[in-house]
Amino acid sequence: MLRVCDISKIYSDLAVFTNISFMVEKGGFAAFLGPSGCGKSTLFRVIAGIESSDSGHIEWEGLKLLNLKENTAMMLQKDLLLPWFDILDNVLIPIKTLKRDTKTGESEAKRLLSRFGLSGFEHYLPYQISGGMRQRAALVRTLLFDREIFLLDEPLSALDALTRQSLQKEILRIQLEFDKTVLMITHDIMEALMLADKIFLLSHLPMRIIKEIDLSNLPKPRYHLDFELAEMAENIFFTLKGELINA
Ligand SMILES: Nc1ncnc2c1ncn2[C@@H]1O[C@H](COP(=O)(O)OP(=O)(O)O)[C@@H](O)[C@H]1O
Ligand SMILES: [Mg+2]
Repeated sequence: MLRVCDISKIYSDLAVFTNISFMVEKGGFAAFLGPSGCGKSTLFRVIAGIESSDSGHIEWEGLKLLNLKENTAMMLQKDLLLPWFDILDNVLIPIKTLKRDTKTGESEAKRLLSRFGLSGFEHYLPYQISGGMRQRAALVRTLLFDREIFLLDEPLSALDALTRQSLQKEILRIQLEFDKTVLMITHDIMEALMLADKIFLLSHLPMRIIKEIDLSNLPKPRYHLDFELAEMAENIFFTLKGELINA
């Protein structure tokens, strides 16, 4: 289990969040929904160990994490592929930076590229493939970091609706087939309801968790037309709208 305990982030005179605590089951999927600018990305950077927190600590499987970077892999809205590297070299970046065996890494990379629908595109440059394919490549690269916790900061926000749906399936595979614990920021209420086992609704600054919705008893994959989900979506929408009005 991932346990975030009392963490705070304060930039000189701006308290982004103070004493935030929550838990995500190992192998679970948590979605974070909240108004723009409320501190979601800052929270993820703290969990990823990219920024320090001003209080609290984070536990994984009952142990306090001292080096968060060793346990987490992060993916953003922008694919951040290097334009002068082909797709294979881009996804091999973790293998190189972590100084893993190149041969094993390369065959693992090719196997994953093929599983994510990119076989035959290994030697294309990023600009030669579509936005959806680039995000698939970014997902493969994130997988090759071989971390247990995936932090996805609006990974699908820049994609059109159809591409987005097919990528949602891939993200679900990351959780279920690759057995990762996934934390994802999204602005799309339906996306959160399709994918998550738990949804955290967040307030405006300073960010608090205003509601935690447990979806773990709803089997996946889920479908858009389900009445129960539609009703939940409406409740979430009104809760978040209240946050915008109060902001
Ligand atoms: N390095 C920083 N220094 C000062 N303020 C920051 C820094 N990073 C983010 N902020 C502020 O923290 C708040 C939350 O930002 P962010 O986490 O990006 O929000 P979100 O991802 O929810 O849109 C914003 O008001 C932003 O201006
Ligand atoms: Mg953000």
